Amino acid sequence: MKIQISYKIIFVSLVLVLVLGVYGCKKEDTSLKFDHKLHVMDNSLSCDSCHAKGKDGKLTNPGMDKCQECHEIDMDHPSEKCLQCHSVKSAANDYKIEGTIPEKPKGYRDLIFKHEAHEGVAECGTCHKGICGQNSLSQIEWPDMFVCKKCHNGKDVPIDCEMCHTEVRKEIKPESHNGDWAMHHGLESRFDRSCQFCHDNQERFCQDCHRTQKPKDHILSWKTSGHGEEAMHDRRLCATCHTAAYCSDCHRSQKPISHARGNWMAYTRENGHAEEAKRNFRSCNVCHTTSECMQCHQTIALRRMK
Ligand code: HEC
Ligand code: HEC
Ligand code: HEC
Ligand code: HEC
Ligand code: HEC
Ligand code: HEC
Ligand code: HEC
Ligand code: HEC
Ligand code: HEC
Ligand code: HEC
Ligand code: HEC
Ligand code: HEC
Repeated sequence: MKIQISYKIIFVSLVLVLVLGVYGCKKEDTSLKFDHKLHVMDNSLSCDSCHAKGKDGKLTNPGMDKCQECHEIDMDHPSEKCLQCHSVKSAANDYKIEGTIPEKPKGYRDLIFKHEAHEGVAECGTCHKGICGQNSLSQIEWPDMFVCKKCHNGKDVPIDCEMCHTEVRKEIKPESHNGDWAMHHGLESRFDRSCQFCHDNQERFCQDCHRTQKPKDHILSWKTSGHGEEAMHDRRLCATCHTAAYCSDCHRSQKPISHARGNWMAYTRENGHAEEAKRNFRSCNVCHTTSECMQCHQTIALRRMK
């Protein structure tokens, strides 16, 4: 036994040198190489031919005997052939298979799920999205709640939280809410779509606060300099808290500092507003409709500007 192990180690070191030599620093992403696309799509293997039902109701993963139906594996004589499926690291580590599949999201710790309940109801690929097109195990994605919600919408199939979660209660703040959540919850809400499950009345919960609490960038000079540029940059950010009417009501009554200039209305083509308009007509449109200009201009000047 001892002798065998040392052979193995010598072999593995040899292979290591060989493989590193040939492939340089090419990164192997998983300890087990397996290509779902190649086997499922190109070789028409059904999912359950490899993932049979286990004892505990969970689906099992295939052992090497399954692979041997098609692949030659000579266990008595380990060779570089083993590296068709095992990474060098796996081979060096007694062929252990670890860390091949991306970890499940935290929320899975309290998830209740049974494949049986979905037999004949959903295809494997409905929940394991894209798996038939993946050529590495590292690409596997675990279904999020929105996948479930396609059916569990409260109409066709129940959506009671307790059906799938042993623990989630809406009244408990998730971990994400610690620290300076007030500052970065906005960004999170764009990627993490779970908000609505606990804050189901967003109109009230979110908007009540947004109507009174200002972002940090709303400093004293925000009105006269700053907000315009920010809004030009990305107006959607403002829509989180402001209606379009909020903006236009003010714009109809408050003039920019530029309008106070002595020559703003001088009757020459080089007057203040003419120059400003030529420089940046878009900015005038923030507050003026073109027809307002037309009250004095008929048609001429503006058309020439374009
Ligand atoms: C030829 C065999 C084979 C076929 C066919 C196959 N798989 Fe797999 N599958 C594997 C292997 C091997 C792994 C990696 C298991 C491991 O890490 O031990 C795997 C992993 C998975 C995992 C992750 C399991 C875990 O323990 O985290 C899922 C989910 C999965 N497959 C779904 C599918 C689906 C859905 C299909 C059909 C579209 C399918 N597989 C078809 C061999 C197969
Ligand atoms: C029904 C037959 C069949 C079974 C069962 C099977 N394979 Fe394959 N496998 C193939 C075929 C066909 C190819 C393509 C061979 C080629 O292109 O040289 C292949 C290729 C591969 C490759 C090389 C992929 C590449 O990108 O070059 C790996 C790795 C592999 N299989 C892993 C496995 C593993 C792991 C299992 C067991 C969980 C398994 N296979 C089970 C038929 C099978
Ligand atoms: C066609 C792909 C393939 C080839 C080639 C292959 N293996 Fe494997 N091997 C697997 C799969 C798949 C598993 C994972 C089974 C599991 O998760 O329980 C595995 C698991 C193992 C294990 C068990 C590891 C553990 O954690 O339990 C050993 C030992 C092993 N292989 C040795 C070898 C040796 C030695 C060779 C070369 C002679 C070899 N394998 C070639 C696919 C392959
Ligand atoms: C309704 C959604 C859904 C469908 C349909 C589905 N799965 Fe899954 N699958 C999941 C979820 C969720 C998990 C994770 C379960 C957990 O961690 O408790 C999972 C886990 C797995 C695992 C890891 C082992 C286990 O049982 O936890 C394998 C393998 C797997 N699925 C394969 C398949 C195959 C093959 C099919 C088609 C026969 C299939 N799945 C259909 C949602 C689904
Ligand atoms: C394609 C539709 C569909 C999708 C997608 C789906 N389910 Fe289901 N699910 C069903 C149906 C239908 C039932 C049976 C409902 C019943 O018995 O009233 C069910 C039942 C269940 C049950 C109850 C099982 C039992 O033993 O009573 C759980 C738990 C469950 N689903 C979890 C999930 C999870 C988690 C997901 C997402 C990963 C999911 N489902 C995605 C259709 C779906
Ligand atoms: C049909 C099954 C199902 C139902 C019903 C369901 N969930 Fe989920 N939930 C999931 C799945 C699957 C996840 C995915 C785990 C993840 O992405 O973290 C999840 C994730 C979550 C998460 C994120 C977990 C975290 O800590 O990041 C929260 C919060 C959550 N659910 C709350 C709820 C609430 C509240 C309800 C009731 C309105 C509910 N869920 C109903 C299946 C379900
Ligand atoms: C306690 C008050 C409060 C509540 C409740 C609240 N927010 Fe906010 N929100 C703020 C503050 C303050 C900011 C500005 C943070 C900063 O940038 O200084 C903000 C910013 C945002 C932004 C970013 C706007 C931008 O500039 O990109 C989004 C998006 C957002 N919140 C979404 C939500 C959603 C969705 C909810 C409800 C689930 C919610 N908020 C609940 C106070 C709150
Ligand atoms: C699992 C349930 C749950 C989820 C999911 C959740 N929240 Fe909350 N959230 C709470 C609870 C409970 C509170 C405290 C409510 C209260 O004070 O009335 C809270 C409070 C907040 C507050 C106010 C914080 C403060 O300092 O007063 C904001 C802002 C907020 N959530 C935004 C979000 C956003 C954005 C998301 C999605 C990215 C989200 N929440 C997801 C449960 C949740
Ligand atoms: C309290 C009044 C007020 C409110 C409310 C207001 N603005 Fe303004 N806005 C102004 C003033 C005054 C200026 C001119 C600043 C200067 O240049 O002197 C301006 C300028 C602008 C400009 C730049 C025009 C230029 O000269 O380049 C844009 C864009 C803009 N605002 C967008 C918005 C948006 C979007 C909102 C709503 C989210 C909004 N504003 C809300 C008063 C307001
Ligand atoms: C998190 C919510 C929130 C976001 C996001 C937000 N604002 Fe505001 N804003 C407020 C609140 C609250 C006030 C104060 C309202 C009041 O006094 O009635 C305010 C006031 C203003 C004012 C008036 C300032 C003054 O001195 O009178 C302007 C202008 C303004 N916002 C423009 C913008 C623009 C432009 C954006 C996007 C770049 C934006 N806001 C994004 C919450 C927000
Ligand atoms: C922040 C909003 C805002 C912006 C931006 C703005 N204006 Fe005005 N402007 C006003 C308001 C308010 C009035 C007064 C309207 C009234 O009294 O009916 C006005 C009036 C005027 C007048 C009439 C003369 C006066 O002083 O009453 C002219 C001409 C004019 N603007 C040209 C421009 C041009 C050209 C631009 C672009 C370079 C521009 N404005 C950008 C708000 C704005
Ligand atoms: C109260 C009347 C009045 C209003 C309203 C007005 N203008 Fe003018 N504008 C003038 C006068 C007067 C001149 C100089 C006339 C001339 O030389 O033809 C002028 C000149 C100009 C010129 C230079 C003309 C040229 O042919 O090069 C431009 C450009 C211009 N205005 C743009 C605007 C824009 C844009 C608006 C609307 C935001 C606007 N004006 C609103 C009265 C007005």
